[in-house]
Amino acid sequence: MAKRTIVKMPGDGIGKVVLDETIRVLEAAGFEADYVEGDIGWEFWCKEGNPLPDRTLKLIEEHKIGLFGAITSKPKDAAFEELAPELKEKGLVYSSPIVGLRQHFGLDICLRPCRSYKGNPLNFIRRGPNDTIQEPEVDVAIFRQNTEGLYGGVEWSNPPDQVYDALMTHPKFVKNFGETPQEELSVSTRIFTKKATERILRAAFVHAKQYGYKSVTVCEKPNVIRETSGMMYKMAQQIQKADYPEIELWNTNIDAQMMWLTKNPENYGVIVAGNMFGDIVSDGFAGLIGGLGFACSAQFNPDSGVGVFEPTHGSAPKYADYETSIVNPIAMIESACMMLDFVDENEIAAKIRKSVAEVIAEGKVKTYDMMKMTGRADVVEKGAASTQQMADAVIAKL
Ligand code: NAI
Ligand code: MG
Repeated sequence: MAKRTIVKMPGDGIGKVVLDETIRVLEAAGFEADYVEGDIGWEFWCKEGNPLPDRTLKLIEEHKIGLFGAITSKPKDAAFEELAPELKEKGLVYSSPIVGLRQHFGLDICLRPCRSYKGNPLNFIRRGPNDTIQEPEVDVAIFRQNTEGLYGGVEWSNPPDQVYDALMTHPKFVKNFGETPQEELSVSTRIFTKKATERILRAAFVHAKQYGYKSVTVCEKPNVIRETSGMMYKMAQQIQKADYPEIELWNTNIDAQMMWLTKNPENYGVIVAGNMFGDIVSDGFAGLIGGLGFACSAQFNPDSGVGVFEPTHGSAPKYADYETSIVNPIAMIESACMMLDFVDENEIAAKIRKSVAEVIAEGKVKTYDMMKMTGRADVVEKGAASTQQMADAVIAKL
């Protein structure tokens, strides 16, 4: 088989380190691929006025698979400040290249698995009967609709007249906001389409079936957000009834779910939600399995076969310039394992996951987060593993 080419996109800050260390792990595990570098992130915004240059889109179009570190985003004014002087007159507006990637390639399926590793000192524990301490095993797969909803970008402050007039046709708008001057209104829309809703639901059910999860939970708020959340739940009921009667369909509200996830996280299997609630609930579950050093994600389009794999953490600028990098590479390594699954290299993925599990279970090599230290340059002197040492430990287990 021809060797694969992977578009590696280090991005900013710690994205570069965790990606390099992960590629070392992939190579040591026997994954044969060439890597081409895709430019993305703050540097390209400042220099070129575009954090996601067309040449990067072309590379992904050609090779389909992207491994992505993390980027830095800053608010509008700060973004303008840092733009190269010759670009300042061009009316450029910064927008997140990650969101841009999702929209451009229709990466509408986002999967964020949260699985606890045995022996991870960061695992969630709770009180059981008679003051016992329990450590529930968490194994959930969160499917987040990745392109629509509150992240769709359809929003206004001081909405234009046509929008305002349209809003005024809604009796609830008239009642609740009709007295507010137009220029004092900010409106962010939450648009769901049937097509994308069905795709994320089906992806969730397919996954549940393939990996033997007994339930799919729709985590929205259909009792209040009747149109969008309501549509998602109704469609889930139809799909489950017609095609997946053996899988249970549960329905939770996002707010209650955030409470329950610390009460009975072991009860949940696959969870599916719209864009914002999926983002929230996946961060919630990630907190139970060790937080940002462990939270991985995949975003893909099953039709085109384009997939981008990334840790959910950002560029952690405060640690970016340490001579010895201290951040945990496991989230990035796990994201690369999801890439391997996506390209049917399941054996290599399993091998890497087993090595990571062994390193964690053994407990000898721990990054600062696993030691519950405050992140500082001297944590390595105090016994924490560096990013590179953690990757070395995983490689040694392979
Ligand atoms: P962040 O995720 O970069 O860092 C928050 C904190 O989490 C860090 O200070 C650190 O204590 C911890 N942390 C993050 N990654 C870690 C790792 N691998 N190991 C151990 N600890 C880790 O989020 P923050 O500080 O809110 O944002 C920094 C920049 O990253 C911003 O410009 C933000 O816009 C961007 N960002 C980018 C994302 C992406 O590329 N997908 C996602 C989130 C934020
Ligand atoms: Mg998030």
